[in-house]
Amino acid sequence: MTGRADDTWTVTVVVPEESSLDAAGETVELEVAEHETILAAARSAGVWLPADCQQGWCITCAARLVEGDVVHPDARRYYDGDREADFVLTCTAKPRADTTVVVDRYDDLLEHRAERGKPPGSAKIRG
Ligand code: FES
Repeated sequence: MTGRADDTWTVTVVVPEESSLDAAGETVELEVAEHETILAAARSAGVWLPADCQQGWCITCAARLVEGDVVHPDARRYYDGDREADFVLTCTAKPRADTTVVVDRYDDLLEHRAERGKPPGSAKIRG
C-alpha cells in the first residue's frame, strides 16, 4: 500500500441525523495522519465523538466504515467478524486510505456482537 507523501488521509465523519451528539446531521472532513486515531483527530478538530475506554475494548466509539480502509493495531478486543461487517472502533482506528465512517453505531455493534456470542453484546443483550 502506498501512502501519500505526508502519510495523511482524509477521513469523512458522518454523524447521523438521529444521533444525540451535538454534531447530529453534520458531515465533517478531517485530515488524519497514519499514526493518529480517528477519535483523536476528531477531538482535535473540536468534533466530540463518543468514547469511554479508548483502548478498543468497550465499543462506545463504534462506527461503520462506508469506504476506505482502517487498521486497529492497538485495539484490545476487535474481532475478524467486526472487520468483515465494516465496524470500526474510532478510538483505535488509524486510516490507511481516504475513508468515510458513520459514527454513533454502538447499538449496532452491540447487537452484532450479541448475535455472535461475543462481548460486550453477549453479556448486555443475550445475558
Ligand atoms: S472507546 Fe472503548 S472501544 Fe473505543
